[in-house]
Amino acid sequence: WEQTTLIVTIDGPAGAGKSTAARQLASRLGFDHLDTGAMYRAVTLACLRRGIDARDETALDGVLTEMDLVLESPHVLLNGEDVSLAIREPAITSRVKEFADSAKVRQFMVEAQRRFAVGRRLVTEGRDQGTVVFPEAPCKFFLTADEAVRAERRQVELGESGHVVSLTALRDQQRTRDQEDRERSLAPLRPAEDAEIVDSSDLTLDEVLDHLEQRVREQMGPV
Ligand code: DC
Repeated sequence: WEQTTLIVTIDGPAGAGKSTAARQLASRLGFDHLDTGAMYRAVTLACLRRGIDARDETALDGVLTEMDLVLESPHVLLNGEDVSLAIREPAITSRVKEFADSAKVRQFMVEAQRRFAVGRRLVTEGRDQGTVVFPEAPCKFFLTADEAVRAERRQVELGESGHVVSLTALRDQQRTRDQEDRERSLAPLRPAEDAEIVDSSDLTLDEVLDHLEQRVREQMGPV
């Protein structure tokens, strides 16, 4: 680690409010923010545009080597193009798992995430940040919420970008995705042993943020 590197990890299932919490926590602390889900989404977009299958390792190698991915939260630039909105489309959401399950893609992303972190004060969010990517991070959270609450939040979020999806459908999709994330062999979704589990079901965003901020300040001293 570089002397100045300070990492806060936030992992957890979809819809727990990770992205907003991570972004706003970073802003409160004056830290940088890294959305690692956006990285998996961007590689998925790059591959789908070229018609590349996640099992085609040679083609994946090509995309990964040529890919110029810039993360300047909240913007994601793929080879110079702002794809921040395109990577949130349901067409990407439904395919990203194929690419996030690839050992090749994961290895590339883990290295890129560690390089990104060097010398930074960083709030990084994803599924494996506390367990795999930054096991030495001094401050780890696992942010979760009840299944029903997460589905409702997801429905509101999708509604904001003009997509109408039923709660039942969302809950079913979510349940399947959670189970797949927990049971996958590479970087399964689980809290790190030293992570604090924060259940946001009955908390407002500000309450979550107050709690996370207080914890980070306690653990890290004056930052
Ligand atoms: O958090 P999200 O919905 O943007 O994540 C997109 C996908 O990437 C989701 O299928 C989980 C996966 N992911 C992952 O495997 N590891 C991470 N660190 C972050 C996301």
